[in-house]
Parts: sequence; C-alpha cells; structure tokens
Amino acid sequence: MKKDIGNREDIILLVDSFYQKVQLDHAIGHIFNEIIKIAWSHHLPKMYDFWESLLFGKATYKGNPMLTHFDINHKIALRTVEFDAWKNLFFTTVDDLFAGENAETIKRKAQSIADLMQFKLNEPKSRFNIV
Ligand code: HEM
Repeated sequence: MKKDIGNREDIILLVDSFYQKVQLDHAIGHIFNEIIKIAWSHHLPKMYDFWESLLFGKATYKGNPMLTHFDINHKIALRTVEFDAWKNLFFTTVDDLFAGENAETIKRKAQSIADLMQFKLNEPKSRFNIV
C-alpha cells in the first residue's frame, strides 16, 4: 500500500520525480531547459521549501511565484496546453508515489494555484495586482 506524504523527505522525492518527468515532457520540458535554462541545483531546493510551506505550514519558502511566472510568460506564453501538461505530470507523480489525505491536499492546492496563475497571466489588468 502506498504511504501518504509525511515529511520533507517525501516532498523531496515528489519534487525530484516531478521535475525528472517535466524535463522530458514535449509541451513544457524546453521551457525549463532551453528557454529559461534554469539552474536545477537552485530551483529544486526552492521547490522543496515551497511545497513544505504549503503542505506543512513551515515558513521555509520566500518568494513570489506570480512574479516569476509573469516573467516567464513574457518569454514564452504559458497557456492551457502548458498548464494542462504541468498539472497532469504533477497529479500523476503524486498518485504514482503516494496515497492519502496529504496527497489529496497537495493536488488540490496545485490545482487551485495553477488555475489562479493561468487566470492572472491571461488577465492584463492583474499585472498590477499580482499577489
Ligand atoms: C505552465 C506551467 C508552468 C511552467 C512552464 C513553469 C515554469 C517554471 C520555471 C521555468 C521556473 C523557474 C524560473 C526561474 O528560476 O527563473 C518556475 C519557478 C517556480 N514555479 Fe513554475 N511553472 C509552471 C507552473 C507552476 C505552478 C502551477 C506552480 C505552483 C503550483 C509553480 C510554482 C513555481 C515556484 C514556487 C517557482 C519558484 C519561484 C521563485 O521563488 O523563484 N509553477 N516555474
């Protein structure tokens, strides 16, 4: 039986597995590796902090994801195809590795942040009201 997401080690496994799939994905892999050319050693720990803060209420993440994605959106438009790919990979990774209340919660949070992000990126006026 699969276990639930219980601690930071589980978040690390989830995030590492997710971005391994992301890098191979034909819809969004190139955004990370070729367009933004992100430094994975910098990005991954930030994502551990982000999800740990959201799931376990630890204030380890400091940052503004909306601003970051506005910047990305200027270089390459993030639309339904890209968000669907991101969500699909995230949900699949969670379900492949975990089952339980926290697994459901993290998917629900990912879904609502993704939907809000997509809405704001496509709503020109929200550029001035980014939080
Ligand atoms: C189309 C979907 C998405 C794409 C292509 C994407 C791409 C990226 C990229 C390339 C970065 C690195 C930016 C940099 O270091 O300069 C990044 C950062 C980040 N992404 Fe996404 N992202 C997507 C959706 C999401 C969603 C739905 C969430 C949250 C649920 C999210 C959370 C974050 C966070 C927290 C960071 C770090 C922000 C920071 O503090 O610098 N992303 N994303």
